[in-house]
Amino acid sequence: MRVLLTGAAGFIGSHVHRALLRSGHEVIALDLMVPAAHGPDAAAPDGIHRVDVRDLDGLTPLLHGVDVVCHHAAVVGAGVSVADAPAYAGHNDLGTAVLLAAMAGTDCRRLVLASSMVVYGEGRYRNVRGELVAATLRQSADLDRGRFEHYCTRTGSALHWEPVPEDAPLRPRSLYAASKVAQEHYAAAWSAATGATVTALRYHNVYGDDMPRDTPYSGVAAIFRSALQAGLAPRVFEDGLQTRDFVHATDIAAANVAAVEQPLPGFTPLNICSGQPITIGEVAAILADARHGPAPVVTGEYRPGDVRHIVASPEASQRVLGFRARVDPRVGLADFAFAPLRGAAAPDAARR
Ligand SMILES: NC(=O)c1ccc[n+]([C@@H]2O[C@H](COP(=O)([O-])OP(=O)(O)OC[C@H]3O[C@@H](n4cnc5c(N)ncnc54)[C@H](O)[C@@H]3O)[C@@H](O)[C@H]2O)c1
Repeated sequence: MRVLLTGAAGFIGSHVHRALLRSGHEVIALDLMVPAAHGPDAAAPDGIHRVDVRDLDGLTPLLHGVDVVCHHAAVVGAGVSVADAPAYAGHNDLGTAVLLAAMAGTDCRRLVLASSMVVYGEGRYRNVRGELVAATLRQSADLDRGRFEHYCTRTGSALHWEPVPEDAPLRPRSLYAASKVAQEHYAAAWSAATGATVTALRYHNVYGDDMPRDTPYSGVAAIFRSALQAGLAPRVFEDGLQTRDFVHATDIAAANVAAVEQPLPGFTPLNICSGQPITIGEVAAILADARHGPAPVVTGEYRPGDVRHIVASPEASQRVLGFRARVDPRVGLADFAFAPLRGAAAPDAARR
């Protein structure tokens, strides 16, 4: 198949690029090389067109003869500052809208969208009676005294988390998350209006070679790793028992190949995860052990708005795409302790 891959020079995009080529697909690759991801003045690697997804005229010739678009171009991160909002809205949402408009002028009717677990916000919880309960923002008074779990506001007893299915409500917690929800909504509306199809892959915590180093926008595994590399103990917030799903970039790439090769009807969101939950404290301990570095320090610090537990169900992606992650996070994270990382961008680069 002929695939247009956006964000092809990025961390995940470059893994997807290699996996598509290995599977025999023809890839038309583009990337704007934004400073937030690549630092100032980075040139596009050979074979990647330097094109902005917000530029209809730039996109149109690249879409010629394309069967599927695999859309990874985005400005990423947790929304460190409100000043980042225009960058998220511009690159992620306007960019997606322009891409969909450009596709409407062609025969290409299939989109694979890089979405994220951040669309859910908090994970899924039940109270002691087994009823689903929407977890609200934790109160700073609770967090200050180390009460990190969610509690039922009626009974005061702790809520229990469980894996999030794709039909869970979307409750974005950050500006970045809001932009990822908006991308999905644009894509779903485009699918409904045109009969085109969208597979929205909701990645969980992705790690692997060439992950960005320790900018405020990079993932916690890379931040722990950089601390260890500098001879420092990884600093673990809260009590370290926050639960996540860490999925290797090579598995993300395999999920993209499966989604490109397997047309699904309408708008289909799918969790892409390892299916093996792990705590943040365990992630820090695995990396520290692997590097023979100082043991992690659990600091009790917290960031207002942080999600306590977000873990996905891999069942739907297994059933409809036949996708199963191969890398066990406890093995993959130990390897990641020595993986090559990408250099840091300027701290305020997301705004450019
Ligand atoms: N890294 C994760 O853990 C994670 C998790 C869930 C979802 N995602 C999604 O996966 C995708 C790739 O993320 P990543 O971690 O590889 O980030 P990245 O920053 O490494 O890659 C994104 C790429 O998009 C490019 N880009 C940004 N704006 C552009 C524009 N207007 N036109 C063309 N190119 C543009 C950047 O230059 C960069 O190379 C994103 O859509 C992101 O939201 C990532």
